[in-house]
Amino acid sequence: MTKLADSLLAWYDTNARELPWRTSPSDRAKGLRPDPYHVWLSEIMLQQTTVIVVRDYFEKFITTWPRVEDLADAIDEDVMSAWAGLGYYARARNLLKCARQVAAAGGQFPQDEVELLALPGIGPYTAAAISAIAFDRPANVVDGNVERVISRVEAITQELPSSRPAVREAAGQHAPEFRPGDYAQALMDLGSGICTPRSPKCEICPVAHLCEAERQGIQETLPRKAPKRKKPTRRGIAWVARTADGAWLLETRPEKGLLGGTRGWPGTEWTEKEPVGDPPAKADWIEAGLVRHTFTHFHLELEVRTGYINTAQPLCEGRCLVHDLDPDHLPSVMKKAFERAQGAI
Ligand code: ADE
Repeated sequence: MTKLADSLLAWYDTNARELPWRTSPSDRAKGLRPDPYHVWLSEIMLQQTTVIVVRDYFEKFITTWPRVEDLADAIDEDVMSAWAGLGYYARARNLLKCARQVAAAGGQFPQDEVELLALPGIGPYTAAAISAIAFDRPANVVDGNVERVISRVEAITQELPSSRPAVREAAGQHAPEFRPGDYAQALMDLGSGICTPRSPKCEICPVAHLCEAERQGIQETLPRKAPKRKKPTRRGIAWVARTADGAWLLETRPEKGLLGGTRGWPGTEWTEKEPVGDPPAKADWIEAGLVRHTFTHFHLELEVRTGYINTAQPLCEGRCLVHDLDPDHLPSVMKKAFERAQGAI
């Protein structure tokens, strides 16, 4: 075991964060392991979302669907609604696919990284994380936090993403055979609480004495990153329509693509040009204002129009009237549009 792994594990023994999907280091020492379903679910949720946000969603999911078989039996719409607000909805669709595949194969997650990798929604990082955390199998678990820690410890000055193979290789040399699950999570905790992107807390870092970047005083400049391309701004119009008896007109988006399979407001394409399209029905449409939202690859300015529609009008395919709408079950951008419309009617 390298000195890095040794020092990190000793630190983790008394400083591990208590997280609902975790088994504490002392319980692990007694031979207890976390439920692989919990580990998988948390890792999928944590792929693009912070621990603070994930906590409540995780609790809600495991209360509603305590076992992978329960999730596999869930109605797609219910899972998409429970996921609303976490973003990156392809994750939710793959989550269901994966749960169904695992349930159909007997309900046990595979332990092996290569087998995990074959499941929907599980990439190399997640496969390594599940294998290490749920099954204590040695694995090289490298996410953005780990890249930062290792780039600093080894003072790798080459820019990301081209430095990625070198960072991975260095991370692999530190990954221990002993307590791989605790080690992976110790690195995550160090990256999130101490070896932070800005103002790292080197004075309390358990591995500062092993950190080459700290020795050179360049830790805050690492990891170096190639400059990001500026995000374009797209524009669109959303129509938030309701009927006199209080139902809302929603549309299910196509399975493929941004917000795929989620329900939201009918609207135009989102485009860098002038948005064009017709409202979903006849109404005296009121301009409710603009909503801004940022996606991974672009900023969106969404013009919200609202009005009352007549229930006698036939609905197009994919549209439905919803009486008991819970805006928390909408994707964030659609919730913002709903709130904007509320202010107008
Ligand atoms: N980020 C990704 N996976 C995590 C985990 N298991 N614990 C804390 N943060 C994480």
